[in-house]
Amino acid sequence: MSTITTSTLPVCSSSSSSTIAIAPSTPSSLSKFPSHTHTRICPYADTMVDKTKPTHEYCPRQEGDSRSPCPALNALANHGYLPRDGRKIDPDTLEKALIDAFQISHTFAYLLAHGGKFMLGQKGDTFSLEDLARHNIVEHDASLFHADAGSRDEYAPNHPDQVMVRTVLKESSDGSTMSPDNFVAARVKRDSCYEGGPKLDLVHHEIAIGEMGLVLTIFGTPTPPSTPNSSAFLKNNVTVDRPVSFLSQPKSFLARILKYIWSIFFGTSTTPSPPPVAVSNDHLRTLIEEERIPEGWKPVKSTGLTDAYKMVSMLKKKIKEQQEQTKKR
Ligand code: HEM
Repeated sequence: MSTITTSTLPVCSSSSSSTIAIAPSTPSSLSKFPSHTHTRICPYADTMVDKTKPTHEYCPRQEGDSRSPCPALNALANHGYLPRDGRKIDPDTLEKALIDAFQISHTFAYLLAHGGKFMLGQKGDTFSLEDLARHNIVEHDASLFHADAGSRDEYAPNHPDQVMVRTVLKESSDGSTMSPDNFVAARVKRDSCYEGGPKLDLVHHEIAIGEMGLVLTIFGTPTPPSTPNSSAFLKNNVTVDRPVSFLSQPKSFLARILKYIWSIFFGTSTTPSPPPVAVSNDHLRTLIEEERIPEGWKPVKSTGLTDAYKMVSMLKKKIKEQQEQTKKR
C-alpha cells in the first residue's frame, strides 16, 4: 500500500505505470501512532475522555483501509468524520460529515453525498471509499494530483502523486497561495498533455472543474486587494457582477439545479463572479498529500450550491478563454 508516489513525467504522466517510486503509506512523519488496524474507529485517535464529543484527531490511512482518489473524502476518514476504515459508508453519514467538517450547506451536502452514491450505480445502501476509484465512473483521467489509471486497470490510483502536487503548486503566482487563475493555468496545462487536445468528456470535464471549485470555495480565504494573486484575479476576471434578473439568479432550488444543468451544456454569461479568494499553498499541500484537514483552517462561512456554482462558472469561462488563446498561438 502506498500514499505518496513520484512519477517521471509529472504533469503529463498518463498512467499509473509511469509511477517509479513508492513511499510507505504511513510515513512516520505523518503518524504519531504506531501502525495499527482501523475498524469504524481508530484505537488511538478515537480514545477520548468524553465519548460524546469526538475530537476528530488525525490518523493517516493504515494497512487495509479503503481509500478513494478524493483527498477531501480521505481526509474525512482520516479525521473520523467517516468510518476510519473507509468502509460501509451510507450517503447520510457522508452528508453529515460534509456539513460537520467543511460547513457545507445541508442542501449542497445532500446533493454531493446522494449524487455521488447515485453516480456509482452500485447496489446496496453503502459504499467503500475505494469504490470511487472505479475508472471513468466519477474518477477520470487528467486529474491534477494523481496519475491516470493504466489502460487495462479498472481502478485508478487512490493516492496523490507528489511530483504532480508540486507541479500544480508551481503555478502559484505569489508563491504562497493558489488563486482561481493559478488553478486554471494548472488545469489547461494538464489538458494540453493529451494528443489531440483535452480528452475528458463533458461530464468528467465538469467534475474536474467542480473539484477545483470545491477546493477554492471551501478552503479559499478572501484575498486583500494588494496581493499579487488578488490583482491578477481582478485584472483577468472578465466575469463581472451585473444587475441580475430573476432568470439569471433563480431563487428556488429546483430552478437553480435546472440552470446549472443548462449551464453545463450551453455555458453562462450572466453569472455573478464569486468573491476573490485564494487557497494557501500549505493548506493545499496538507489536504492533498497528507489527506488531512489543515491545522488552523476553519471554514470562513457555509458553502452552498450557489457559491460553488459561481466559482465553477468562472473557472469554466477562464479555462475556455485560455484554451482559445493557446489554440491561436
Ligand atoms: C466537498 C468537498 C470535496 C472536495 C474539497 C473535493 C476535492 C477533490 C479534489 C481536489 C479532487 C482531485 C484529486 C486529484 O486531482 O487527484 C477530487 C477528486 C475526486 N473526488 Fe472529491 N472533493 C469533495 C467531495 C467529493 C464527494 C462528495 C465525492 C463523491 C461522493 C467526491 C469524489 C471524488 C472522486 C471520485 C475524485 C476522483 C476524480 C479524479 O479522478 O480526479 N469528492 N476531489
